[in-house]
Order: sequence, then structure tokens, then C-alpha cells
Amino acid sequence: MSNLIFAGMDTVELAKKYGTPLYLMSEDLINDRCKEIRDDFLNKHPNTEAFYASKAFLTKEMARIIKREGLGMDVVSGGELYTALEVDFPMDRVIFHGNNKSIEEIEMAVKNDVGRIIVDNIGELDLVESAGYKYKKIVKILFRISPGVDSDTHKYIQTGQVDSKFGIPLNKKSIEKGMEKLSEMKNIQLLGFHSHIGSQLFDNQSHLKSIQIIVKLMKDVKDKFGFVTKELNTGGGYGIRYAGDENRRPLAYFTDEIVKEVEKSTKEYGLERPTITIEPGRWIVAEAGITLYTIGSIKEIEGVRTYVSVDGGMADNPRPSLYQAEYEAIVANKADKSPTEVATIAGKCCESGDILIWDLKIPQVEAGDILAVLATGAYNYSMASNYNKLPRPAVVMIRDGQDRLIVRRETYADLVKNQI
Ligand code: LLP
Repeated sequence: MSNLIFAGMDTVELAKKYGTPLYLMSEDLINDRCKEIRDDFLNKHPNTEAFYASKAFLTKEMARIIKREGLGMDVVSGGELYTALEVDFPMDRVIFHGNNKSIEEIEMAVKNDVGRIIVDNIGELDLVESAGYKYKKIVKILFRISPGVDSDTHKYIQTGQVDSKFGIPLNKKSIEKGMEKLSEMKNIQLLGFHSHIGSQLFDNQSHLKSIQIIVKLMKDVKDKFGFVTKELNTGGGYGIRYAGDENRRPLAYFTDEIVKEVEKSTKEYGLERPTITIEPGRWIVAEAGITLYTIGSIKEIEGVRTYVSVDGGMADNPRPSLYQAEYEAIVANKADKSPTEVATIAGKCCESGDILIWDLKIPQVEAGDILAVLATGAYNYSMASNYNKLPRPAVVMIRDGQDRLIVRRETYADLVKNQI
């Protein structure tokens, strides 16, 4: 009988050592992706920057890895910023996002000299100005623009369309109001624009469309306000393979075209070519992670369906129930066995919608078998909850055939520690 090997390690042995459910992350794979970003984007194209969208997967150890790999980091809350601060992440390499940053979060960012604040709405300018005044700083910002581009992905992860909670709407009134307001502010320096149109994209067309729109905006604000754009942040959103036919594209499929489009359209308008920035999250970590579960109850409804339940579910991976996301899985202790059955993998939460995988082809399984769900490195640990008072799983990082615990499994005591 042969076991599933992940990142050079026997997954069944790791399940025994750390228990299940268990998140396994391959640092080798994360490092490979970071290297691809350096080789095929940062070192290939001058005047470029890359920020890891930490919402995809953030722990102190992950922040250390990104620091060591030389990328910057995108944070969207005081909590993500706090995690970066905990490991002395260079603050000039941090950019701060969010559609409803509180004054406390903005002050935390300004006080700690975060590299850029990405201002999401005009009202936020007052908060940033007051924080800048309080700490006697000139705060560097970009305007996040909602370019009105529909991207081809699940509705819940589209962000660039007209009807979006994110970004300043691309109309004359909003932009001019922002520029005029800015001209009266003393503690803010605008450097350029940002747009992120959506996530899990396989086609570069919506990025390119959005760039054409933003470059036109750069031209308009130059003509009207004399403002020269220094930075253009093009967001993240590059897709990865979960199940099915869509494969992760090489980074350059997106970034070469992004750079080409920025250069072409700025040239057409006679503008300076700004620094070009990217912000991938999922593309760096998703395929670097798998989740191990132990199979428990098996229920066959004759002529209908077989449910195979595991010891986790929507609490550690809410993506199937939120976005109908599809995953692949392998029975780790029967990795050499051909599939003979079709089963639906159910979680253990009290919700009929807590199904991890519908109609998975698997060999015959029994209680105690280990199931490995693949490509869970992004938006699983970071979106996990304690629903049904399930303790969140441990996270183990693997590098060069060595495993190390980077997040301890929560205990029942952890679950009630803040309760009075
Ligand atoms: N930049 C901004 C401003 C973002 O809002 C996001 C993601 C990213 C970059 C990174 O996007 P990525 O490269 O990871 O696609 N929970 C959802 C994904 C939400 C993405 C939110 N914003 C999921 O599990 O599919």
C-alpha cells in the first residue's frame, strides 16, 4: 500500500504526528512562486513592484517567508498589519487596503510608516489627512478606482464592476471631487492609481481592459490637474487549478501583457510610464497547500448517493459552500488504488450545505482512512471559523523534506478563552 507524498513527505505519517484536520503547506512551492515573480516580473521588467495579498494566507511564519523572499505585502486590516509588525516586516514594503478602514486602523498604518495607503473612497481622505497631521507625516496614497470592468469569475469575487463596494467610481464627479479635496490637504501625497478587478481569473483581458481605462484617467487628471501618475497598481487575481481543466497560467502570461499594455497606452497618450505593481495572493499559495482529514461515518442511500464524512468541513474550508468551489481529493493511505466508487465528501458541521466535494471518484474507503483535499493553501486557513465550536486545525510548513509546526491546533480552552 503506498501513501500520498506531498512536498516529499508521507502525508499519512504527518496525519499521525499532528492529528487531523491538518493544513500542510509547502514552503518549497511558495518559494518557487516567489522566484517566478522575481525572475519573470521584477527582474525582467524595470520599475516594477510585487506585493503578496496576505488575505490569502497569513501567519507570522508566512510573513517571515515573504520578507525573506523580498516581496512586499498587501494588508487589509489592523489584524493583518499587526501580524506583519510582529515579525518586523519592513513597513515601507506594506500597502494598506480596505473599503472601510477605521480611524484606528489608519492611525496604526500611518504611525508605523506603512508604504502606501490605498484610499478606497473620497471620505477616507479626511481620515488619512487627520492621521497624517496627528503623526506629522506625509502619507503616500494611491486611489483605488473601480474601472467598471466585469471579470469572468464567481459573482462574489468580482470587484471591478460598476456596482461594487470597492473603489472610487470612475466618473468625472467622483474623481474631480477627490482631486480637488486632495489639493487642500497638506499631509497626503497622491502617487497614482490602483485597480483590482476580481479573483481566480484565467484570461488576462479584464486586466488589460482595466489598464486602458486607468491610463485614460491618468491622461485626464494630468490635463485637468497637472497630476503626473508615478505608480499604477494592477491588483492580483491570477487563477489556479482546483479541479477540472483550467490550469494555472505562468505569471508572465499576465504580467508581460500588463507591462506591454501600460507601456503602449501611456506612450499613446504621451505620458510617463509609471511603476507597475502587482498583488497576487492565491497564485502564490493555493497550490502550496493541502488539507488532511480523517474519514469517519459512511452512509449509503441506496440508489441515491453515498456520503463519506470527514472530521472538518466548512469551518476549515468555507469555499465550496460560499462559492460552489470545486476541489480534488485523494485517499492518502490508498494513493495507489484506482477509484471504484463515487462518493460525496461531507463535512461535520450541522448544515446540509457543508459538502466539500460532490461526486468524487475514490477507491473503497473505511473509517480511519485519510483524505487529502488539494489546493487548499489560499483562503482556507485565512477564512476558517469556529462554527459548531470546532477548533481550527494546526498548520504545518514543509521545506526540504522537514516539517515544522507554524500554527498550533486550537484547543477547547482556546474556544472559550475570551468568554466571560
Ligand atoms: N488585491 C486586492 C485589492 C484584493 O482585494 C485581492 C483579493 C487581491 C489583491 C488578491 O487576489 P488573488 O490574487 O488572491 O485572487 N475569498 C475568495 C477570494 C477573495 C479575494 C479578495 N481580494 C476566494 O476564496 O476565492
